[in-house]
Amino acid sequence: MSSDIKRIAVLTSGGDAPGMNAAVRAVVRTASSLDLHVYGIRRGYEGMIEGDIHRMEKRDVGNIIHRGGTILKTARSERFKTAEGRKAAYESLLAHDIDAVVVIGGNGTFTGALKFEKEFDIPMVGVPGTIDNDLFGTDYTIGFDTSVNTAVEAMDRIRDTADSHNRLFFVEVMGRNSGFIALNTAIGSGAESVLIPEVDTSIDHLVDLLHKSAKRNKLFSLVVVAEGHKAGGAAAIAEKVRPQLEMFDIKVTIIGHLQRGGAPSSSDRVLASRLGHSAVLALMDGKKNLMVGIKNHNISFTPFAKAIKNEKLINEGLLRMAETLAI
Ligand code: F6P
Repeated sequence: MSSDIKRIAVLTSGGDAPGMNAAVRAVVRTASSLDLHVYGIRRGYEGMIEGDIHRMEKRDVGNIIHRGGTILKTARSERFKTAEGRKAAYESLLAHDIDAVVVIGGNGTFTGALKFEKEFDIPMVGVPGTIDNDLFGTDYTIGFDTSVNTAVEAMDRIRDTADSHNRLFFVEVMGRNSGFIALNTAIGSGAESVLIPEVDTSIDHLVDLLHKSAKRNKLFSLVVVAEGHKAGGAAAIAEKVRPQLEMFDIKVTIIGHLQRGGAPSSSDRVLASRLGHSAVLALMDGKKNLMVGIKNHNISFTPFAKAIKNEKLINEGLLRMAETLAI
C-alpha cells in the first residue's frame, strides 16, 4: 500500500455515541501500525478551527474500548458552517502538516466534510457515529445498538410499574427525524404500539388499538413514541388521546439523553473497530469524500453526498409485525 499520506488526524463531532472511543482506538492503532503519525482533534470541527490538535500514540487509546462518550470530546460547530470557519480549520491542518482526516459523526459532520472537501485538498473519510442510525449507506451506525439496548432496559422497568398499577405509558425515545430507535425499542420490549415520523399512524388508529386491548382486558400498555413524530412528542400525544381513553391511567416518560451514554455493547465495539480500521485503509488506498459503512456484514463505501441526502428507509414490515406480536 503506497500513499503520500504520512500524517492523519481523527475527530468526533455531533452528538456523542457509545462506541466512538472504540472507533478512535481503531483509527489510531491502524494508522500507527502503518507507521503514520496520528493526531487527535479535540471538540470536533471547533477544535479543528482553533488548532486543538495533539499527537496520539498507540498507548493513548489504551483502556477506552469499553467507555461511552468520546475521549476526544465533541461539539456541534456553528463556525464550521461558515467559509471563514472552514478556512481557519484548513490553516490549522496545514500548520500541523495533516494530510488526511477521519471524521466520526453523523449527518451534520458529513455535511461539513462535504463542504470542506469542495474547498480544500485534504482528503476526508467518514465513520458513521450516531445513535439515530439515520445514515444512508450503512445498515447500522455506531451507538445505535447500545442506545436501543438502554431504551429496552428502561422499557422493561416501566413495564413493571405499568403492570402493577394498570397504567398506559407513552415512552419517548430519541432519533431526531427518524424512527429506527423507536421501532427497534418497541419490538425489543414488546410494546403495544409505536409512533414514528416515517409512517403516518393516525391518532384514531392508536385509540382504536388501545380500546381493543382494553376490551380484551389488557389494562396496561406501553406505547413508544419517536421524538420526531409529526403529532408531537409523547407528552403532546398523551394529551391528545386522554379524553378518548378514560379507562386508562396515562403516564409519560421521556428517556432522553439516558440512551446516549453508557458502555458500548459488544456489537457497537466490533462495528466501531471495523469501521475505524477500514477508514484508515480507505484513505491509504486513495479514497476520499465518502463514508465507510456496513452492508450485509461487509464493509461498503458511500459518497458523503449520498449518505446525507438519500433517505434511509424504515422497514414497514417490521412496524406491522410489531403490532401483530403485541396482540
Ligand atoms: O443525533 C443524536 C441525538 O441524540 C438525537 O437523537 C437528538 O435529537 C439530538 O441528538 C439531541 O441533541 P443534543 O444533545 O445536542 O440536544
